[in-house]
Amino acid sequence: MYKHSVSILGTGFIGLCSAACFAKQDIKVIASTHNEKKAEIIKNFQSPFFEEGLEEMLQEIRNKNPELLTCITDPVKAVLETDISMITQGTPMREDKSIKLDYIESTAEEIGEALKKKDDFHLIVVRSTVVPGTTRNLVGKIITDISGKEPGKDFGLCMQPEFLAEGKSLEDTLYPDRIVIGEYDIKSGNMLQDFYEYFYGDHLENCPILRMNLESAELVKYGNNCLLSTKISYANEFANFAELVPNVDVVEVMKGVGLDYRLNPRFLGAGVGFGGSCFHKDVNAIKAWSKSRGYNARLLEAVLDINDDQAIHIVDIAEDLVGSLKDKRITLLGLAFKPGTDDMRSAPSIRVVNELEERGVTNIIGYDPKAKETARVEFGDRIQYADSIQEALKNSECALLITDWDDFKKLTPKDFKTHMKTPNLIDGRRIYPYEEFKAELPFRAMGRIDFKD
Ligand code: UGA
Repeated sequence: MYKHSVSILGTGFIGLCSAACFAKQDIKVIASTHNEKKAEIIKNFQSPFFEEGLEEMLQEIRNKNPELLTCITDPVKAVLETDISMITQGTPMREDKSIKLDYIESTAEEIGEALKKKDDFHLIVVRSTVVPGTTRNLVGKIITDISGKEPGKDFGLCMQPEFLAEGKSLEDTLYPDRIVIGEYDIKSGNMLQDFYEYFYGDHLENCPILRMNLESAELVKYGNNCLLSTKISYANEFANFAELVPNVDVVEVMKGVGLDYRLNPRFLGAGVGFGGSCFHKDVNAIKAWSKSRGYNARLLEAVLDINDDQAIHIVDIAEDLVGSLKDKRITLLGLAFKPGTDDMRSAPSIRVVNELEERGVTNIIGYDPKAKETARVEFGDRIQYADSIQEALKNSECALLITDWDDFKKLTPKDFKTHMKTPNLIDGRRIYPYEEFKAELPFRAMGRIDFKD
């Protein structure tokens, strides 16, 4: 076993996926959460949420050596029994859209309590997304105040932003394209680099480790998520340009743009826009942070506006095709914010349902291969929930494709014609071959119109 053991404080996507990947590599991990129910599930090597491959990995650890991964509800104990602690708590959005750092703050207090009782050097690594200055001025300061210990001497402090995407969390954790280490001092950075050199081994030949100060590392994470969101809103702006000219297709346009060697084709997919727990929260957080310092983030404001408007726009397209939707039965294909997850946070489906309701639509049925239960928590009885694609399409007068699940990609015009009352379809993710569907159905796709439309 490797010399370092790790405590993971917070058991969401980042925390639990990191914990599982480390333990799989023979590193002793103690995960800690205040949620007893969650701890019980993880203790049984199960996952409290759906993430591709995670349960299998947890089972593998149990079969190999269950002592490698434990989960407790006592963060002080977790810190005392390990020599590196990673803070992986959530940093949600407040009502005023700024970042909520309460969980980071209380975790720093718990670490401070633990370090008060510990003589050995301990490394603290902030993995959560936090606005610049948080690691040094909040986490570092709280730990110092409570423990009476000195950063750089008694404990190390790093900020290592996380770039994993839901549905690909394990792959992204195991094969990152770079590791960013923000460090309080060289000793802290060296200890974290040393840890990753063991963990990643040969993979580091293709994966640069970037060392920088704490604040730059904090801003890298926002830089990343803001640029990805900007690419999507940029593609959506061009989707709207494309709809001004018959037969221009945004998919072709973005293909042409994305192959420029200075760019890349990913995240130029136009449609109903981005959702998820990260893009909205992070774009809003850095916007609010800069505003509190006197800078108005105009680009990011536009990124969010364009994104919100896409959900309204898909409903406009549907009304253009079908006429008033008011008394019609409408199907939503896909409810989760993206395929591969049951996560409904900031999902485009929420904005679409709000907009449909604004226009008086009451007969909405949704189908999602994974998100039925999480969607029920979000929508309650505002919509109906189908157990199959067929059931969702039955008697429907217009279907809106919201999430690009593989199951939906397999559908043919015949499926819509067979099951729907009137087979009107709007492709909000550009997954269907345009010419073929257009020839067979009353069909529209975001980012393209015909001479006839
Ligand atoms: C995102 C980032 O991709 C991760 O790098 C980051 O670590 C993570 O946020 C985070 O901050 O924790 P995630 O939100 O899980 O990951 O999912 P993405 O795959 O980035 O998708 C976000 C949204 O953008 C989805 O609703 C997706 O449908 C949409 N999207 C994506 C588009 O509308 N067009 C595209 O071309 C790509």
